[in-house]
Amino acid sequence: MTLTVPDLTVLTAADISGVIEADREACVEAVRLSYLWHDEGDSALPHSSFLRFPHRHRDRAIALPGYLGGGADVAGIKWIASFPGNTAQGIPRASAVLVLNDVGTGYPYALLEASVISASRTAASAVLGAEQLIGGRRAPTVAFIGTGLIADHVRRFLRDLKWDVDAYRLYDLDPAAAATFGTALKDDGAEDITVCTDIADAMAADLVVLATVAGEPHLHDPALLAHRPVVLHLSLRDLGPELVLAAQNVTDDIDHAVRERTSLHLTVQQTGNRDFVDGTLADLLTGRLRRDPERAAIFAPFGLGVLDLAVGAWAFEQVVAAGGGRSIPGFFPSSGVTS
Ligand SMILES: NC(=O)c1ccc[n+]([C@@H]2O[C@H](COP(=O)([O-])OP(=O)(O)OC[C@H]3O[C@@H](n4cnc5c(N)ncnc54)[C@H](O)[C@@H]3O)[C@@H](O)[C@H]2O)c1
Repeated sequence: MTLTVPDLTVLTAADISGVIEADREACVEAVRLSYLWHDEGDSALPHSSFLRFPHRHRDRAIALPGYLGGGADVAGIKWIASFPGNTAQGIPRASAVLVLNDVGTGYPYALLEASVISASRTAASAVLGAEQLIGGRRAPTVAFIGTGLIADHVRRFLRDLKWDVDAYRLYDLDPAAAATFGTALKDDGAEDITVCTDIADAMAADLVVLATVAGEPHLHDPALLAHRPVVLHLSLRDLGPELVLAAQNVTDDIDHAVRERTSLHLTVQQTGNRDFVDGTLADLLTGRLRRDPERAAIFAPFGLGVLDLAVGAWAFEQVVAAGGGRSIPGFFPSSGVTS
């Protein structure tokens, strides 16, 4: 059999947004399956590599390489930059590309805009975790603490997956961001929307989405969890160890999540063990772990590169099947003879 060198195909943010907006259930299913395949050991997932800058302390770029088997059989890498100061200048915090590699030849065959993939897989994972912990798609009150781009993607997934929500509470250090988010909820048809000036009022919700850019814990009082909410701790660093220790803790991959000064990492440093981590989303999906109704539950997913690969490969197939994407013939030397 003769191997052929592939063309490289480029997909834009618009290409990818189109397929995700058309079928968020399928996006969640791609995420669900990738958790299960990863859990079965049918993946390779080196630790994410963090590039930090000597003179730009808030900024970073992260490389997430990986391989996902199962029905995906795809390798690749997401390269995502986070510059929190961008938003004040009118452009998003995160920018990213995803490279997909063919597992037969190793060749990269696709280059995808990946900020949309990254935000979508994060939101899909969040709503999947919420559904597992709550036992359905109903939350009387939902709070968004940090109402930026990731929160907005969670809003869209909750809406399109037809979650039953009575009321919303919003809190953001930037009141304008909370107000804009409130308008988007109103456009979705929500009526009961409160912009809170005290973060504790927002925390009083049944389902709390934490999507700030806090670098250090700013929530320390375990009484904030006394009403036993489900907390989706997407920003990973908001909660002090006191809150972590007061809750049932679920993550995506314990080895990955207990790093990089996440709240889970700080709690390990304080306690000297990982015993307070109850399990993973895959444990919930397979029935090995159940929600403890006596405590709050915190789902803090570190964000696994296999999710980007799964959603990216699924989006690639959809776009290319519909005749989309831009192919670049001759991107790679094809003869195998190079000077
Ligand atoms: N776990 C994952 O897999 C994953 C994936 C992607 C992004 N994230 C994280 O999600 C977070 C949000 O990302 P984004 O793209 O929406 O950022 P963004 O800059 O668009 O929005 C962040 C919002 O949080 C607000 N904020 C900052 N500090 C706050 C605080 N202490 N309290 C309340 N509000 C605060 C900001 O004003 C802003 O409106 C980031 O921390 C990012 O690293 C996690």
